Amino acid sequence: MKPVPTLKWCENHLQLLDQRLLPAEEIFIQCKSVKDLAHAIKTLAVRGAPAIGIAAAYGAVTAALETSDTANFQEECNALLDVLASTRPTAVNLFHCLDIQRQILFSSPTKEIAIERLLTRAHELFEEDLEASKAMGRFGADLLPEGCTVLTHCNAGGLATSGLGTALSVIYEAHSRGILKQVFADETRPLLQGARLTAWELHRVGIPVKVLPDSAAASLLRTGEVDAVITGADRVAMNGDSANKIGTYPLALAAHESGVPFYIVAPTSTFDPKSATGFSIEIEERGREELAEMGTRKILPDGVRVFNPAFDVTPVKLITSIICEKGVISAPSEIEW
Ligand code: MRU
Repeated sequence: MKPVPTLKWCENHLQLLDQRLLPAEEIFIQCKSVKDLAHAIKTLAVRGAPAIGIAAAYGAVTAALETSDTANFQEECNALLDVLASTRPTAVNLFHCLDIQRQILFSSPTKEIAIERLLTRAHELFEEDLEASKAMGRFGADLLPEGCTVLTHCNAGGLATSGLGTALSVIYEAHSRGILKQVFADETRPLLQGARLTAWELHRVGIPVKVLPDSAAASLLRTGEVDAVITGADRVAMNGDSANKIGTYPLALAAHESGVPFYIVAPTSTFDPKSATGFSIEIEERGREELAEMGTRKILPDGVRVFNPAFDVTPVKLITSIICEKGVISAPSEIEW
């Protein structure tokens, strides 16, 4: 299985598959400045926690290339890293990768050396994420029964990482082992990452996928047709509470009610030592236009305000296991973190 060409460093800039246009068009955009990349992250041309982090790691190279070759280069570059850090608040991988690059920046004596080291580290982060996705796929698939049907939410696939994904790496691995019967993908309102991206990714490699409205998930789980719910995460707190795309928490509640296992798949780069519990995770709120328009059609009366959080937090007590690249954390609510 080949990863999707989500992001690629091309000589002196980052190239991204523009996820805003999928599945209608497969267009690549070139991010030649920090401003370009910050806009791409904010508007979800690149999205998904690990992919945002890796994009920012390459963005640090762009930032270093943009700074003047003076004694001030570290401060100048650091200010550009702050611009990248201000794009989206919830996925911790962004801050994790930027912290790594900041340390490299401040230990590099010249701009030239900084550029070389930052690029090497960005490539390593890309590779580490790819390897992590393979390991998570294997650990996760071991938990699934023969002939399984799974339900996923948002897109936690190759489009969200440098490899095959987090939740979807499990699904790809189950498919390779011949134990996967059917995937249900929540459409994932309002930006439809499930319908536009997950269905596109799975369908292109021949994995049977059915898309359902988010509101149909609870009744589907009640039928007993689904063996497991598998999602990614944007940030895992130190007690196991996990933030993921809005709609994940109700899914976990419904899975619990119907006795269906609920798995979070996330690399350790998504674990946040600074968040003691889910309550300290900042939840991004996005614009009114995401709810007010559907394509070119206006669907909200003028003047009506919206509540549009991009993520929610699933309390650890609803999570059956957390799968990371080091193994499976079973019954995470019962362990000492
Ligand atoms: O707003 P998005 O599309 O960046 O949200 C992405 C998600 O919520 C994913 O499920 C999460 O980042 C895990 S991706 C491996």
